[in-house]
Amino acid sequence: MNNRLPVLLLLLLAAPVGLSPAAAQQAMTEGDMPMMATGIVLPRMDAAAGRQLFAAKGCVLCHSVNGVGGQDAPPMDAEYMDAMMNPFDFAAGMWRGSEAMVALQRDELGDQIELTGQELADITAFVHDAEEQKRFTEADIPAPIAALMMKMDGGE
Ligand code: HEC
Repeated sequence: MNNRLPVLLLLLLAAPVGLSPAAAQQAMTEGDMPMMATGIVLPRMDAAAGRQLFAAKGCVLCHSVNGVGGQDAPPMDAEYMDAMMNPFDFAAGMWRGSEAMVALQRDELGDQIELTGQELADITAFVHDAEEQKRFTEADIPAPIAALMMKMDGGE
């Protein structure tokens, strides 16, 4: 009985979705990422990649981190983020500000910024990571974006 109890439990857990115990266990995680709801896993979030993306995707045109970036929009320093941050709140903030952001992006960049889910996840990790933000400098800004910032500073 001692040995069989865990197996029985697994079978019970797996039964409703019709999976074998092994498959059920695999389905609960994707790599080592926990499943958040049926079929939902969060991606790994890489703040260092986010540092590059924040600049390369042009967020830096309007938002600043570490004093680097535009002043047209709220700064994105970690100190302004919730200590325990729900990444969907960040995305919801983007949704809320989307009208103003898309209009400004069309003005400044000519088009709306394209983002994959992974890219947004990495940017979200970056805005919440005070240590990674200390590494953010002008040197992270690719030349085309830097040129646009100069143009904006010049007062369009
Ligand atoms: C062209 C300017 C511009 C660019 C580029 C831009 N934003 Fe914004 N963003 C804004 C403005 C302006 C607001 C404020 C909108 C409002 O208050 O209605 C805003 C608001 C936000 C908010 C909500 C902030 C809050 O306090 O609720 C988030 C989050 C955000 N932006 C993230 C991003 C990210 C991430 C990127 C890059 C992928 C980005 N933004 C690119 C101008 C920009």
